[in-house]
Amino acid sequence: MKRKNIAVIGGQWGDEGKGKIIDVLSRKADIVVRGTGGANAGHTIRVGAKKYVLHLVPSGIVRRDTMNVIGNGMVIDPHALSDELSMLSTGGIDYRERLQISLSAKLILPQHFLIEALHESGNGSVGSTKRGVGPCYADHVARIGCLLNDIFNPKVFREKLERNLEDKRVIFAHYGRRLIRRLLAHMGLERCYAADGFLDVNEIIAMYREYARPFQDLIRDTDFYLRKQWGRKSMLFEGAQGMYLSIDYGTYPFVTSSDPGIEGLMKGGGLPVSAAEEVFVVMKAPYETRVGMGAFPTEMGGKRMDEWCKRTIPPNQEPEWPAPDINSANALEQGIAVLKRGAEFGATTGRRRRCGWFDAVLARHAMEINGGRIILTKLDVFNGCKRLKICTHYVYEGPTICWGNLVLRKGTAVHHAIPHNEVLRYCNPQYMEVPGWNADISKLWRWRQLPARCKRYVDRIAELSGAKIAGLSVGPDRDAMIWL
Ligand code: IMP
Repeated sequence: MKRKNIAVIGGQWGDEGKGKIIDVLSRKADIVVRGTGGANAGHTIRVGAKKYVLHLVPSGIVRRDTMNVIGNGMVIDPHALSDELSMLSTGGIDYRERLQISLSAKLILPQHFLIEALHESGNGSVGSTKRGVGPCYADHVARIGCLLNDIFNPKVFREKLERNLEDKRVIFAHYGRRLIRRLLAHMGLERCYAADGFLDVNEIIAMYREYARPFQDLIRDTDFYLRKQWGRKSMLFEGAQGMYLSIDYGTYPFVTSSDPGIEGLMKGGGLPVSAAEEVFVVMKAPYETRVGMGAFPTEMGGKRMDEWCKRTIPPNQEPEWPAPDINSANALEQGIAVLKRGAEFGATTGRRRRCGWFDAVLARHAMEINGGRIILTKLDVFNGCKRLKICTHYVYEGPTICWGNLVLRKGTAVHHAIPHNEVLRYCNPQYMEVPGWNADISKLWRWRQLPARCKRYVDRIAELSGAKIAGLSVGPDRDAMIWL
């Protein structure tokens, strides 16, 4: 009998809790595939008392019988990958027979870290995770990138590396030897520094061979493998990041450099979109989060929340609101309460995540692009919150701007998503308020057990998002799930 392939996408700005959903669904999958992004992603999986934070390896690795594929659309830092593999070995996970890595995954090179550090320290910063992701994808599109497979073919690797480095010569010369050397040392890459102030090709080739040794025998033509398995085995396509971080659909330029939507995911996994028979779009509710910079219309406390999230002292040492109230009339205090209750700290960078109300305008748009059904996560974070807000539309408050044949002026009501930063940052959210539930829903496992107000809230989200709800996550554990 033919078995079903499922794709799981993030419907907001990443960190929607996809890790847990993928972990739950991978129980029935023969193969779990990742297709986009790199170590900028962080998927947290709890198995009993153990917690695994995965950045590159698909989440199916924690299940004993699941094959896992790192697809062609991913960008790989071989050092980070070998570290992650040794973390798995230490954690008692035997991955050797259950992991395949695409030979055409894109290779992150030392110069990518350097370029990103230089970009991020200037005015063009997007608040990236500094994992070399953007510059690596940029080189791929500029046709000067390297593939993972190149590491094992020194002649080809050298040619491509030299070509790639030639392209960087002007930039490095502009910044000067001292800075380049200092940055390399700061990143633990001093070894790559060449006496002429540039990068040493021989060193990079040698270093990358070393890094790749632990996984050399796992490199495969995974596109070919997956095409052969299509229709025979059930596959789970694991999205990373979220819709509004998409290079194509997101709040450009404050986005990542891949397309985390259904098209990017399937292409990066090596199969057509039609291979995904079921699409689940994961969204947090009643709140959502964003890390890094960029427009976030429903952010609780607005700019003040953004500023607060940039602080680096531990939140429990913050002088204001040691015990913030989720029912506070002060939007910032409420946002901080949500951040603390939801443990909203980046899995990759540890950064505080900005928190805001559920935005149904963006949710509707995400569903139009991806299709499928919604899985809501983190509903339990709002247990005991008296009033919940849902953003239904915006009022534009910025300078007059043409958007094709549409002219947006101060006061224009905006009912559909224009997720470009230059418009979205001036969109003032308009809310509908609904009553919250005053009960702990985290131990419930059936729809009918949920408080009536919680059910009404979920129905309202479905109606406003124009899509059906497939499931609700009501706690971090695997079984804290209600399927509809
Ligand atoms: P990059 O992907 O490191 O280039 O970062 C670009 C933007 O995407 C930054 O705002 C990051 O914070 C954001 N970003 C990248 N990966 C993730 C993720 O997995 N979750 C949330 N935000 C992410």
